[in-house]
Amino acid sequence: MRSILVLNGPNLNMLGVREPHVYGSETLDDIEVRLSERARELGLELEFVQSNYEGDLITKIHEAYGTKDGILINPGAFTHYSYALRDALSSVQLPAVEVHLSNIYKREEFRHHSVTAPVVIGQISGFGSYGYELGLAALVRHFEEKG
Ligand code: DQA
Repeated sequence: MRSILVLNGPNLNMLGVREPHVYGSETLDDIEVRLSERARELGLELEFVQSNYEGDLITKIHEAYGTKDGILINPGAFTHYSYALRDALSSVQLPAVEVHLSNIYKREEFRHHSVTAPVVIGQISGFGSYGYELGLAALVRHFEEKG
């Protein structure tokens, strides 16, 4: 069974409370419960981690090396400036998909640039929590294609 690390960065623990007009009314727990159901159908094992600390996210990515098959990540605001997170993702060389609930290209200028996007397979942005399901499906397709 393939194993995926599902990483959520800063402030994503506040989903449900945080700007619901931008991020929706579901909590991170709600999203993780739905993703677990989806994972069962897809035959995947998921590990969920949320942290507000850059170093914790980096350590989790390092630990995924040799233990996970892929990474689904919403780096939150780190997307836009964390070269350290980007380097961690490129260090482990695991297939990763970047997810954003909001369409970052429709929002403030500083959100238009992702420093992590160049080191992931692809990015999903603007489909709300459904983006995480799309991300899982994209990883499964990637595994099928790459064997
Ligand atoms: C986000 C977009 C980021 O710009 C923001 O800092 C977040 C959430 C999203 O899911 O839309 O924390 O990654």
